[in-house]
Amino acid sequence: MQLHSVPTQPFNDQKPGTSGLRKKVRVFQQPHYLQNFVQSIFDTLEIPPNATLTVGGDGRYFNREAIQIIIKMAAANGFSKVMVGQHGILSTPAASHIIRKYHTFGGIILSASHNPAGPEEDFGIKYNTANGGPAPEKITEAIFARSKQIDRYSLADLPDVDLSRLGKTVLEGFEVEVMDAVADYADLMQTMFDFPAIKHWLANGHRMVFDAMHAVTGPYAQEIFVRRLGAPADSLMHCEVSETFGGGHPDPNLTYADALVNVAYGAQAPDLAAASDGDGDRNMILGQHFFVTPSDSLALIAAHAKRIPAYAQGLAGVARSMPTSGAVDRVATALGIPCYETPTGWKFFGNLMDAGKVTLCGEESFGTGSDHVREKDGLWAVLCWLNLLAATGESVESLVRSHWQQYGRNVYSRHDYEAVPTAQAQAVIAHLQAQFDRLPGQTIGRYTIATVDDFSYTDPVDGSVSRGQGLRILFRCGSRIVVRLSGTGTEGATIRVYLEAYTEDPALQQMDAQDALAELIAVAHQLTQLPTLTGRQQPTVIT
Ligand code: G1P
Ligand code: ZN
Repeated sequence: MQLHSVPTQPFNDQKPGTSGLRKKVRVFQQPHYLQNFVQSIFDTLEIPPNATLTVGGDGRYFNREAIQIIIKMAAANGFSKVMVGQHGILSTPAASHIIRKYHTFGGIILSASHNPAGPEEDFGIKYNTANGGPAPEKITEAIFARSKQIDRYSLADLPDVDLSRLGKTVLEGFEVEVMDAVADYADLMQTMFDFPAIKHWLANGHRMVFDAMHAVTGPYAQEIFVRRLGAPADSLMHCEVSETFGGGHPDPNLTYADALVNVAYGAQAPDLAAASDGDGDRNMILGQHFFVTPSDSLALIAAHAKRIPAYAQGLAGVARSMPTSGAVDRVATALGIPCYETPTGWKFFGNLMDAGKVTLCGEESFGTGSDHVREKDGLWAVLCWLNLLAATGESVESLVRSHWQQYGRNVYSRHDYEAVPTAQAQAVIAHLQAQFDRLPGQTIGRYTIATVDDFSYTDPVDGSVSRGQGLRILFRCGSRIVVRLSGTGTEGATIRVYLEAYTEDPALQQMDAQDALAELIAVAHQLTQLPTLTGRQQPTVIT
């Protein structure tokens, strides 16, 4: 095999964020940019003989070009095989499953998740380790360090691989296997859930609608919901995949999944309406005229887990990211199992799952998952809900309302201020942090501050410490405000303000979250001075 060693120069901006390196497509299209980052990944790893690399992406613009480059680089860097999804497409949870099922050394996932796709939009790349999960900070930091030193990368002189044709191609001893990941993933789901019960539920007067938002889950939804579970074809929305995700913003929330929201709040609302994001790891769950917050969804799945075949024996423990509401904590207490609080980002759950400490995990950002893979999993969450609806015969709304009755309600909302100039966003953080010493004990309206901190996490498995994970203002009544900057944006900064209040009062439980949180929102504005410092009166997105 002819190898080329190509001289290059470091870029100084290849620092992976919450979930890999995300930049505009045109940044990745600069000569050597993608190659530098891929070589930095490979240089950080100790690649053993006969190692296989899993490669796939969410199908967005630039996916196919990037995959051809990565295959040639993998060949030159000592991998003996690459397993790649057909057309270069793998949903993020399917990629995690492939890494685990076929014991591949690791994987490269090409995705910018829920960010829009197209020549002027976003692209992303991240490395997952042999457990199928996103590389821990130790590795992402080493990759960044390497990217600042790099002076050459290696490329094998191989022809492009036909990614549309399933099967194996051997190129001078190096093998590329193009695989149908949909079947593998659907098989896994079928072992975990009560498909006959769901099928029966769907055949007996219940309806679901799933919105793939023109992104990666389209073919998976077709196979699972329509072919295996017998849902009518019109249960699927936007399941035709395109490189630009239909020009949309494939983020399953109340703002961006408005077409689905209209269905769920319309006259003929289905029993379950659900959506997933660009790369298939997020989920949104709606009942008839009813939205389930991701934090409540996690708590409810945990509370009813034993009804799902995969969890019939119970849960080892649960974990949630720090800004996620404490609803699941209450369930964990009732079940007598541990609950871990981690920083934002799925990579922090991996160690806990590998050590058998937790079975279910979730984030407020529409991410829920379990130890069946090491990524959050959108379709898995939809199947959890379908399984619970079929097993209980209840509606989404009645399940959630009974949950609140039993455990109380963690009223919750996140306000995002997107594309804020970086200096202004940093000023908001600095302004809040500057008051930290004098905040404890202060009362604003009916809220008295108990403690404030910048969240820091010590991994209970390997002892690694992650600091600076978000400013927390904890009130005596149990309410809290969290403020942090996004680590996934590609334009300016995104300020996230997380608001949470706990109530056992049935009247407050009925209220709209924004109304119930109105005073806390005002307190957040007062403490951060966000409207003054950024000129923003309203959030860009409310979830
Ligand atoms: C966001 C979410 C976070 C999630 C990540 C990847 O990160 O807040 O929970 O893990 O996307 O999907 P952020 O932009 O806040 O850093
Ligand atoms: Zn995603």
